[in-house]
Amino acid sequence: MVHITRRERFNAAHRLFRSEWDDEKNLEIFGKCSNPNWHGHNYELFVTVKGKLNPETGFVLNLKELSRIIQTKIIQKVDHKNINIEVDFMQGKLASSENLAIAIWEELLPEIVKLGVQLHCVKLFETENNFVEYYGDGY
Ligand code: NI
Repeated sequence: MVHITRRERFNAAHRLFRSEWDDEKNLEIFGKCSNPNWHGHNYELFVTVKGKLNPETGFVLNLKELSRIIQTKIIQKVDHKNINIEVDFMQGKLASSENLAIAIWEELLPEIVKLGVQLHCVKLFETENNFVEYYGDGY
């Protein structure tokens, strides 16, 4: 089976904190990402799907189609937004990259399935050095 990946980028603000903890404890656990006045990241999102080749096109899937779905379901909702406050699919969740990757998977899965391919991996870079991967295998 062939795997293909589309990269999309977005900028968003967040804050990692638990309201039942004071600022000192939040800083201890979450570091700079607990800044009470928010901060942003330039996220990079890699969505990998897998499937059989369409013999007519030689494609697993037209990447324009995958891009359109990621744009509609994810990027338009998160780009230049505050993840804690403005993103519907992150309401009530801690705005960690792990939770964000899982939520993106769950948002994309029904749309990807409709295209006749399988969602393989959601990889999300929060910084150049830190990224998470989710394969839909539970948490
Ligand atoms: Ni952060």
